[in-house]
Amino acid sequence: AKDPVRVLVTGAAGQIGYALVPMIARGVMLGADQPVILHMLDIPPAAEALNGVKMELVDAAFPLLKGVVATTDVVEACTGVNIAVMVGGFPRKEGMERKDVMSKNVSIYKSQASALEKHAAANCKVLVVANPANTNALILKEFAPSIPEKNISCLTRLDHNRALGQISERLNVQVSDVKNVIIWGNHSSTQYPDVNHASVNTPAGAKAVRELVSDDAWLNGEFITTVQQRGAAIIKARKLSSALSAASAACDHIRDWVLGTPEGTWVSMGVYSDGSYNVPAGLIYSFPVTCQNGEWKIVQGLPIDEFSRKKLDLTAEELSEEKALAYSCLS
Ligand code: NAI
Repeated sequence: AKDPVRVLVTGAAGQIGYALVPMIARGVMLGADQPVILHMLDIPPAAEALNGVKMELVDAAFPLLKGVVATTDVVEACTGVNIAVMVGGFPRKEGMERKDVMSKNVSIYKSQASALEKHAAANCKVLVVANPANTNALILKEFAPSIPEKNISCLTRLDHNRALGQISERLNVQVSDVKNVIIWGNHSSTQYPDVNHASVNTPAGAKAVRELVSDDAWLNGEFITTVQQRGAAIIKARKLSSALSAASAACDHIRDWVLGTPEGTWVSMGVYSDGSYNVPAGLIYSFPVTCQNGEWKIVQGLPIDEFSRKKLDLTAEELSEEKALAYSCLS
């Protein structure tokens, strides 16, 4: 039998946490033959609720779940973890300045970075979900210098999956037959959902999404804004932000990273830019990536038209501004 993998979920008493931990314990993230030990961290005001989640995990009698650590102590939470899913953060509240929210998250990610650096298992993979996800991941990278930058990522897979979903609805095809959309940039409303390289499996072979949809006005307009604004639409409908789809996307992100992407398929991940596609190096930016042997690689050589170029640059500019704001909170 395989040794258990230790998976940390921060903010585990929150909404995404509540949807995510049972998925992990059922093998959705790492496979149905991979035992896991869950480490759950939250803050003292949520300690009782966190303990309730632990009770439910016991009650669910998951065969793959070999242990649960539920704690408000960041060192205990981070010790020995192989995978860290960072969902905890400070939410933006009505009337709060952007800088104040940034400042709270910068200090959270700075201290959690140090704890991970000192106490996590070697080669720990980190996924930041909490917003501002790209910039929180960047701060984590800065303050955990011994964790390789290739091990630090942020979640844009939810946006990627939303784009697949919109195409599948529009064409009335199975979502599993749609592939290779791209989310470029920030997990925010400036992200660029790009279908220029996406295709659909049809009985007559793979066909380009651009060819099948043929309505360029929709693809260059409503499709993009629907994906960009989907989070807000969910909040409006549910009075709560997306949690089950976010949790599912976090599982997809880690599963593909660890177990690999299928041949011929790429996914979107927020990763440290090396300057590919003229995106400024040193930002955490969402790119198309393929994964093999536990490592991601940015897909190279895709042609970028003028329309796309502007959108890639716009979201990069926003990330550069966020980075500057985050640094101003440090000084
Ligand atoms: P939530 O408010 O229900 O849960 C957040 C949890 O984090 C709470 O239990 C809170 O006590 C905890 N927390 C706060 N500070 C913490 C700290 N320093 N250490 C550990 N835990 C801490 O929020 P929800 O809906 O679960 O969302 C979590 C985050 O994920 C938010 O920042 C949200 O904006 C973000 N998000 C990101 C998505 C993405 O695609 N990247 C999609 C959806 C949400």
